[in-house]
Amino acid sequence: MTKPPLILAHGGAGKSPMTKAQRACLAEALASGYELLRRGAPSIDAVETTIKILEGSGVFNAGVGSCLQLDGSKRMDASIMEGRDLRAGAVAGIELVRHPISAARLVMEETAHVLLVGPSATRFARHWKLDRQSPPTRAQQKAASVKAMKRAGLSGAQRRTLSVFAQMQTRSRREARDTVGAVALDRDGTAAAGASTGGIALMLPGRVGDTPLIGCGVYADNEAGAVSMTGLGEGIIRLAVAKEIADRLAGGASPVMAVRLVLAKLATRVQGRAGALVLAKDGRFAIAHNTARMTAGYWNGSGKPVVKDKFER
Ligand code: GLY
Repeated sequence: MTKPPLILAHGGAGKSPMTKAQRACLAEALASGYELLRRGAPSIDAVETTIKILEGSGVFNAGVGSCLQLDGSKRMDASIMEGRDLRAGAVAGIELVRHPISAARLVMEETAHVLLVGPSATRFARHWKLDRQSPPTRAQQKAASVKAMKRAGLSGAQRRTLSVFAQMQTRSRREARDTVGAVALDRDGTAAAGASTGGIALMLPGRVGDTPLIGCGVYADNEAGAVSMTGLGEGIIRLAVAKEIADRLAGGASPVMAVRLVLAKLATRVQGRAGALVLAKDGRFAIAHNTARMTAGYWNGSGKPVVKDKFER
């Protein structure tokens, strides 16, 4: 018996209100992903397609719009997982690629591994002829570092005295923003999850967050459902948040209860800030965050995609 398909997507949790461009892009991404599900495509296709639209838009911190690390390089992370056989693939620190999520999917489907990192991940993407993106120009590097330091609340005097990465890192108020992700359930009842990010502001070169770590940034299991996280990776990793939410779903908790309990634990145990898309195997879902806002939406084919920047808290 076929099941009604459903897709959820996010464009990050943080303080900033959603822009018009982000709203339009998220609605378009949800519509494209849902259309695949409607035609009977597997949930993994819907998740990849939805995330590719968000990565290619330049209006989120992922793919083309990724923020830069402190050495001026754009290193991106992504992961994808399918719940039927628990297959997963991920890339971390990949460069010069337009769609890291497609590299993650190729790791899942074309290798015996789960995670490729750094220049080797970039070479892997080249081997598969994935679309490229140009390296950041000097002007972009300068503008990005000034913007990130301003956002972190550093004064002009502080900015002038900061010369080494470690100083910048310890003084910064780190904020994760705009990571993108999606979860979907297809007509066969297979769940899939994915996420893609440029990381966080003022990060040390080589820093990797939760997004490419299976069980931290994403998880999918047909016996539970699918989860995609956004927020500050350092906290999410320490609680393996996506897996903890999935385990609670498998144990019978509703999506709302599962995510509420885990976000509360994240806040009390490690002062973590995050948002989550949570989709149970029976189609119930929750979008929740303990940040001020989360840009996200969902669609089940009726009416128009719902896109907002505040959900269950
Ligand atoms: N959640 C994105 C990151 O921490 O890199």
